[in-house]
Amino acid sequence: MDYKEIKELDEKYYFNTFGSRLPIAFEYGEGCTLYDSQGQMYRDFVAGIAVNTLGYNHPVLRETIIKQSAKLLHCSNLFYIESQAKLAKMLVENSCGDKVFFCNSGAEANEGAIKLARKYFYSKNLYKYEIITTLNSFHGRTMATLAATGQEKYQKPFEPLPTGFVHVPFNDIEAVENAISYKTCAVMVEPIQGEGGVIPATVQYMKALRKLCDDKGILLIFDEVQTGIGRTGKLFGYEHYGVEPDIFTLAKGLGGGVPIGAFVAKDFVATAMEPGDHGTTFGGNPLACTAALAVLSTVLEEGFLENVKAVGECFINQLLELKEKFPFIKAVRGKGLMIGMELEDTISGKEIVLDMLDRGFIINCAGNNTLRFVPPLIIQKGDIDALIENLENSFGKESCNA
Ligand SMILES: Cc1ncc(COP(=O)(O)O)c(C=O)c1O
Repeated sequence: MDYKEIKELDEKYYFNTFGSRLPIAFEYGEGCTLYDSQGQMYRDFVAGIAVNTLGYNHPVLRETIIKQSAKLLHCSNLFYIESQAKLAKMLVENSCGDKVFFCNSGAEANEGAIKLARKYFYSKNLYKYEIITTLNSFHGRTMATLAATGQEKYQKPFEPLPTGFVHVPFNDIEAVENAISYKTCAVMVEPIQGEGGVIPATVQYMKALRKLCDDKGILLIFDEVQTGIGRTGKLFGYEHYGVEPDIFTLAKGLGGGVPIGAFVAKDFVATAMEPGDHGTTFGGNPLACTAALAVLSTVLEEGFLENVKAVGECFINQLLELKEKFPFIKAVRGKGLMIGMELEDTISGKEIVLDMLDRGFIINCAGNNTLRFVPPLIIQKGDIDALIENLENSFGKESCNA
């Protein structure tokens, strides 16, 4: 089918929640490049929104999935599952957590974390249920994660939302301090706000958050759905801050494109979840866990994360050089391969995204007019050089038009 036919079908039969999508339907991918049905190539700096950790058609992930699909796609959590147990072990051995629960998405992972925080205090006979989250955050689209998300535009049409969430400005420790009450059970933050425009938490803020939660006896939850699994140059975003959360959540990059999410907790919290408290049909199934094992093992190979860090630094430096040339670039920020470039309102980030697409590059616009770059973690310097050259030309054209 060609793009036009696919678009027609979509418009006739699919819910229109994504508005007008970008005008391409991809047919296949290889490495960090996607191809449409005409064979037109696009270098990918979005990776399915921070999902395709190993790019496309990665031999290890591909062969793992092929082999596993010939053996066992799914069996119920009524039974023990080898790959689930092994993946949980690998996550625990490489993180600050002790126990893992697998689900299917980021929102589901955060739902689980919210339930766990509430259950922890319930099991102590304490009526603490309120979670402090930050403005401009994004935690998902289910009712509770929508309530946790600090962006009114997503919430308004679905009110009344579940109660028990308070929003405070990001990177503002005093605001958290003032929001804590006898009802507070946890603080939940993204180490780097992703959908909000790639805004990193400061080290000072994260350290102060940890201390505040310890002093007040409340839990600290990190939403690592976007920052987890090597995205920032370390396996988990919290490693940049010298603090450990009590609970953290994962999804996006964990399965490298196969849907899987997780929440991970320290033992003292995890034991609060008892038989019957939580469950899932699909979560942690053999296919998803085997795929995630392949992704995680690859990311943990010697040199992989060091390379993400080095390539990311080089990428940021090149973007900073562009900032010197174009005064409408307000800021370049991020860690590893999670990078944002905020533009003045005089330049439309969305127009730049479309122009870059015409030039064969996939980028995206998040938050407040911020170009977001979250490529596969195997991206090479040559791809970045090509992107920078085209971005410079695109900016040159846009600044003439502005
Ligand atoms: C930090 C964060 N949390 C949660 C989510 C929700 O994940 P999902 O779309 O898999 O439900 C996202 C998605 O963008 C996210 O970036």
